[in-house]
Amino acid sequence: MLEKIQETANYIKQKVSEIPAYAIILGTGLGELAAEITDQETIPYENIPNFPVSTVEGHSGKLIFGKLGSKRVIAMQGRFHFYEGYDMKQVTFPVRVFKALGVEYLFVSNAAGGMNGSFDVGDIMLIDDHINLFPEHPLRGKNFNELGTRFPDMSEAYNKELRLLAMDIAKEKNIKLQHGVYVGTQGPTFETPAEYNYFRIIGGDAVGMSTVPEVIVANHAKMKVLAFSIITDLGVIGKIVEVTHEEVQEAAKIAQPKMAEIIRTVVERI
Ligand code: HPA
Repeated sequence: MLEKIQETANYIKQKVSEIPAYAIILGTGLGELAAEITDQETIPYENIPNFPVSTVEGHSGKLIFGKLGSKRVIAMQGRFHFYEGYDMKQVTFPVRVFKALGVEYLFVSNAAGGMNGSFDVGDIMLIDDHINLFPEHPLRGKNFNELGTRFPDMSEAYNKELRLLAMDIAKEKNIKLQHGVYVGTQGPTFETPAEYNYFRIIGGDAVGMSTVPEVIVANHAKMKVLAFSIITDLGVIGKIVEVTHEEVQEAAKIAQPKMAEIIRTVVERI
């Protein structure tokens, strides 16, 4: 595992001119934030040793190096989902590599269903915290002390300073920003009404099929995390309708410029 991470990091280092301190994982329908990155150098996943290859529609699969505003970033266009069949070590491998490259900040985005009755489709939710309902834990198995401690603290998995900064920026720019708890599930089914209700009862505001594994591994590695969900459909009793992947992508696409503006400004001010 350690050798693989190093091998991949070394490959990336000799491919790009400069390694940034910030990494961004772009979720479903949110790949267009990549278009705002200037001076791009890209590496397709299939060229990167030890990287799994992304398969799901709406995820194109490359690392993009370049500038977001005035800061250099790495963006992952296309992530690896547990439901695709990857194991949790594969899903979170890129985060390990980012850390080995010296990245200290991880920004994560996803599309999610909203259970909070005050949410609307197209809202952006700042993730305050999460509930991990994945059936496999990314840190299960031998712990490598070089990567982090055996029993990592998760009392502030989403960095408070970054969250406050994001809220300030949203206010300043008149962007409506919700916040709440993200429930991470394996998918690939969307929820039944009873499941949405259950996730609401246990304390969730939104539910999705990603993010939690990467955030856990980033915390294990002591990276600072900021994450956003775009609410693409509602799991609110009385408002539940049929949902398709295409509608999720469409709703995410509409909201993404606002989320991009928040992320760009946060990175600018760190
Ligand atoms: N449930 C799970 N994942 C999702 C949803 C949802 O309603 N919307 C977008 N991703």
